[in-house]
Amino acid sequence: MMETTPAAAGQASRSVRDRGSRAEIGSENSSGPIIKVEGLAKIYRTARGTLTLFEDLHLTVEAGEMVAIMGQSGAGKSTLLHILGALDTPSAGTVYCASTNVTELNARQAAVFRNRQIGYVWQFHYLLPEFTAQENVALPLLARGGAKVEAMAMAANWLREVGLAERSTHRPGALSGGEQQRVALARALVNRPRLLLADEPTGDLDQTTAGLVFDLIARLHVNHRLTSVLVTHNVDLAARCTRVLRLESGRLTPLPAAPPPNPI
Ligand SMILES: Nc1ncnc2c1ncn2[C@@H]1O[C@H](COP(=O)(O)OP(=O)(O)O)[C@@H](O)[C@H]1O
Ligand SMILES: [Mg+2]
Repeated sequence: MMETTPAAAGQASRSVRDRGSRAEIGSENSSGPIIKVEGLAKIYRTARGTLTLFEDLHLTVEAGEMVAIMGQSGAGKSTLLHILGALDTPSAGTVYCASTNVTELNARQAAVFRNRQIGYVWQFHYLLPEFTAQENVALPLLARGGAKVEAMAMAANWLREVGLAERSTHRPGALSGGEQQRVALARALVNRPRLLLADEPTGDLDQTTAGLVFDLIARLHVNHRLTSVLVTHNVDLAARCTRVLRLESGRLTPLPAAPPPNPI
């Protein structure tokens, strides 16, 4: 069982919206936006022709925001997240992310930037099957040169935080889909990044488990003062973010915030 109750998690996710809507929150961690994308272009030239995903994309995300990005398959959502997180390079434009001009990083700098500043969660967990849950969570700390004993202790703390203290010696194959995603979240955050990028993090889960994992993301977002950008197809989950954007035909357009649920 997760340590949080659905009611408590719901409270956390409501406070995501409260928090994001207060202008002063943006100045808590930083003097400016966490993400500033200007004139972003991504154009693939293939044997079959040119594929323009976006030509002049702009996006600003303030500290503390939890932004949902929706849009049809193939719209370029994953590509945008990859560029934000220095996993892909744009054809043109500038991307400032966590005070870093991501477009100017060389491969080694990009690897350090990703390790320190960004937590990634994907639709599939990509945990290493031969390692235990605790070892998987410890890996990003070891990758930056941390001592094994300390890394394992911090990993244990994070597994407790995601409600999986009793599963620390399980290998990924012996965990449920929801548990695997919770381990992936612990791994994403163990290095205390400022920014969480999540690409359909609940897309491979049943509706109930998706809701619980989203509750956890919302709680971690608030408790660790994260700035989060989530790609999701789930309208209900997107509506619980501070802002919802739709990526379509190379443009990001705001979707109206859903009204709060009717308490009948
Ligand atoms: N290396 C590549 N070369 C050519 N086209 C690509 C490449 N990578 C992705 N694409 C295309 O870019 C489009 C957007 O992909 P993606 O960002 O994964 O979309 P989404 O996440 O919104 O479904 C897709 O049509 C995909 O086929
Ligand atoms: Mg995608």
